[in-house]
Amino acid sequence: MLKVKNLKVGYGNVPVIFDFSCEVNQGELVAIVGSNGAGKSTLLKTISGLLKPMAGEITFCGERIDTLPAYAIVEKGIAHAPEGRQVFGKMTVRDNLLLGAFVIRSPQEQARLLDEVFELFPILKERENQKAETLSGGEQQMLAIARSLMSKPKLLMIDEMSLGLAPVVVDKVMDTLQVIRDRVTVLLVEQKVQEALEIATRGYVLQSGRLVIEGKGKDLLESDIVKKAYLGL
Ligand SMILES: Nc1ncnc2c1ncn2[C@@H]1O[C@H](COP(=O)(O)OP(=O)(O)OP(=O)(O)O)[C@@H](O)[C@H]1O
Ligand SMILES: [Mg+2]
Repeated sequence: MLKVKNLKVGYGNVPVIFDFSCEVNQGELVAIVGSNGAGKSTLLKTISGLLKPMAGEITFCGERIDTLPAYAIVEKGIAHAPEGRQVFGKMTVRDNLLLGAFVIRSPQEQARLLDEVFELFPILKERENQKAETLSGGEQQMLAIARSLMSKPKLLMIDEMSLGLAPVVVDKVMDTLQVIRDRVTVLLVEQKVQEALEIATRGYVLQSGRLVIEGKGKDLLESDIVKKAYLGL
């Protein structure tokens, strides 16, 4: 579904990702893990068209997308729940969700999608008319994910789902992800290496902008590199 090939990308003329390749197949939940500054968010920003590659190419469903503007990439079916949630605090939960559906033209379809995400996240239904800034951290994270689902994506990219959340809330959000993965292909970026690899079909470990190791989630958890560098074993 998604193919990133020999990607080099950075800021100004300073590259922060060097010759990175990865793939996401339909139905998978793929995790990109690595420490602070590894280039994980940069990778997602490049896939969603916010940054342009210095070299390499990105294709989605067989079509080159790295030359397209960000809105066109959303229309192709890629949604990006960015790091730090970035919900619109002064707007209600409902309006935040409807903003996520900006590429869906039919009001009936928007209403149907709204029902669907409310079913998935009942707490958001309860908080429907509340300003987003009054939600708890975990609820805001759910809102960010729900908002991304409102564009009816084929691929959902989530950046640091667990950032700033208490461990029990992380578990809850991870549970939600287990439900979502049956409906949509997921590319998840996480610093919480263990949690992410436990639920991932496959994973890639990124360090200072380079691929260290890739493989099945379970295999990576058992690998010496991951155990030593990320799990402190
Ligand atoms: N807007 C920017 N301008 C210049 N350099 C940047 C910019 N954003 C990120 N960088 C640099 O690019 C590198 C990769 O950053 P990135 O945000 O992709 O890392 P990350 O893996 O997402 O880290 P974290 O886990 O802390 O979110 C870092 O060295 C960072 O300082
Ligand atoms: Mg990041």
